[in-house]
Amino acid sequence: MTALIGRDLLGLADLKPKEIQELLQLATQLKSQQLQLQCNKVLGLLFSKASTRTRVSFSVAMYQLGGQVIDLNPNVTQVSRGEPVQDTARVLDRYLDILAIRTFAQKELETFAHYAKIPVINALTDAEHPCQVLADLLTIQECFGDFTGLTLTYVGDGNNVANSLMLGCALVGMNVRIATPQGYEPDAAIVEQARAIANNQTEVLLTHDPEVAAKCTNVLYTDVWASMGQESEAGDRFPIFQPYQISEQLLSLADPKAIVLHCLPAHRGEEITEEVIEGSQSRVWDQAENRLHAQKALLVSILGAE
Ligand code: CP
Ligand code: NVA
Repeated sequence: MTALIGRDLLGLADLKPKEIQELLQLATQLKSQQLQLQCNKVLGLLFSKASTRTRVSFSVAMYQLGGQVIDLNPNVTQVSRGEPVQDTARVLDRYLDILAIRTFAQKELETFAHYAKIPVINALTDAEHPCQVLADLLTIQECFGDFTGLTLTYVGDGNNVANSLMLGCALVGMNVRIATPQGYEPDAAIVEQARAIANNQTEVLLTHDPEVAAKCTNVLYTDVWASMGQESEAGDRFPIFQPYQISEQLLSLADPKAIVLHCLPAHRGEEITEEVIEGSQSRVWDQAENRLHAQKALLVSILGAE
């Protein structure tokens, strides 16, 4: 339960396979209320990008554990007036027990973690979204029981979610296929990292063909075509990404028992159709709920609880 005491979570590969298994087990116990824990600490949320799920699920998790949350919106702190990251980090370190950061550059998160002695959690950067993928893995485990032999297919932009999914699948022993348009592949260094973790035991496949990637898959996953910070590119991207939409036709190529996931927020008619997101194979609402349980397990593991 306290396996991650004091640790940062800057990227999913900060966790070992066994640590992910333990987190998912703890999340399951907390979700079913087999376990009531108290963790009377203070979490700071320093978010430079919008958020509904991550902000609210972290806050509710902390409140349910008996802790407190401080919303450190950069617009109402000195961050927006240019106070250096290394100064902000060292000061927040003296007040808070843990800090979750949502920002653009992974490097900025790493600088925060370097200067703050308290644990720092990646609540989304341009490079990774590890908390999302912990909830995704919990959802997949709930639906299938076991990861062995399963394949997850992600179609769309090779973005932060795709990067963390590759690592997450490799870490739990699932095959992963990422289908993107040319020029929108996931981060090459993270692909290499995922392949090193998979160690030829499971597949980490990159393709430009969404139909090849979707064939007989167990989990079909997508995310927005233009992430936060890329809004100005959206118009140019849409025609390029159109063949990567999760439609009923693409879903029909997957295993008949396949589930559909989306980290949300979704753009119906763009990366996913209305029929699919509202259809019988969609598990997106359970997936969103699991953000709460997975992050509660993460907080307990890092902070300790009684
Ligand atoms: N999936 C996710 O991180 O959602 P928010 O941007 O609303 O936090
Ligand atoms: N890739 C998306 C995920 C949002 C939860 C973004 O970064 O905007």
